Amino acid sequence: MTTISPAIAAATALSPLPHYDRPTYLMCPPEFYDVDYVINPWMAGNLHRPSRDKAFAQWRNLYQNLQRIADVRLLHARAGSPDMVFVAHAALVHHGIAAISSFTHPQRQTEEPHLRRWLQDAGFLLWETPRETAFEGEGDALFDADANLLWAAHGVRTCQHSHRHVADAWHTKVVSLHLVDPRFYHLDICFAPLTNGYLLYFPGAFDAASLARIEAVYSSEKRIAVSEAEATQFACNVINIGRNVLMGSQTVDLSARLADYGFDVTTIDLSEFHRGGGSAKSLALRLSDLNVLEAPAI
Ligand code: ARG
Repeated sequence: MTTISPAIAAATALSPLPHYDRPTYLMCPPEFYDVDYVINPWMAGNLHRPSRDKAFAQWRNLYQNLQRIADVRLLHARAGSPDMVFVAHAALVHHGIAAISSFTHPQRQTEEPHLRRWLQDAGFLLWETPRETAFEGEGDALFDADANLLWAAHGVRTCQHSHRHVADAWHTKVVSLHLVDPRFYHLDICFAPLTNGYLLYFPGAFDAASLARIEAVYSSEKRIAVSEAEATQFACNVINIGRNVLMGSQTVDLSARLADYGFDVTTIDLSEFHRGGGSAKSLALRLSDLNVLEAPAI
């Protein structure tokens, strides 16, 4: 398990950090969602194509499915920040500490103050990341299921120099992975640590040294590799709580494979968000700790 740094321990002696007994996530409704600019290959050709009504219906379906297995808090959407719906990229949260993103693109930097304020009001301790070393939250940094290791990506958005700084918020070990395919510009669309030590990933998104690092931690029985066809349907961009997996990809074969590993997969049409380059995982930011998997018995 990660421990908090001495500086944070001293600061939190005065006011306790938020703690959740149930899995808890933050979502941001797609009131102002659109493809207004192109900052990833998925957005090209989709300028102003998403239907807001359809996006709202799809988002609500994900929201309701997530509510079955978690508490969901809401962040108000803001005009002028069309990608704010992808709230998972604005921070990485663990143990009541939130490492705040410093987005690469000015178009997404407008989202930063809104989430910062929400997290501050909710009592989180904020760990700022410098503008010079871009960091895109859960888009590029994910803990493994028992939270003793942080996987962080670089190569497209997040700067490698941010990795150690972010990991220092929890005094945790960090492993850097190099993304080499522009379609998989964030870690959360090609890599998903799952319950029971499994990993869902697309090997083609990484360089050879990164694949060796992944294979050194996850044995072959624990690695669930997806095909390029599955990966390009956002098959790795999943929300996983216990045995539940929520995914935007409609790949029947993958659902069956995951069922063989004991997972219960719910697929939700999130096609309007695929136009913007994101799916289920990127639409919800985890607030509770990874070991909080279900509601306590009442
Ligand atoms: N338009 C957003 C961006 O490019 C989409 C984010 C979704 N990303 C993802 N990792 N699933 O930043």
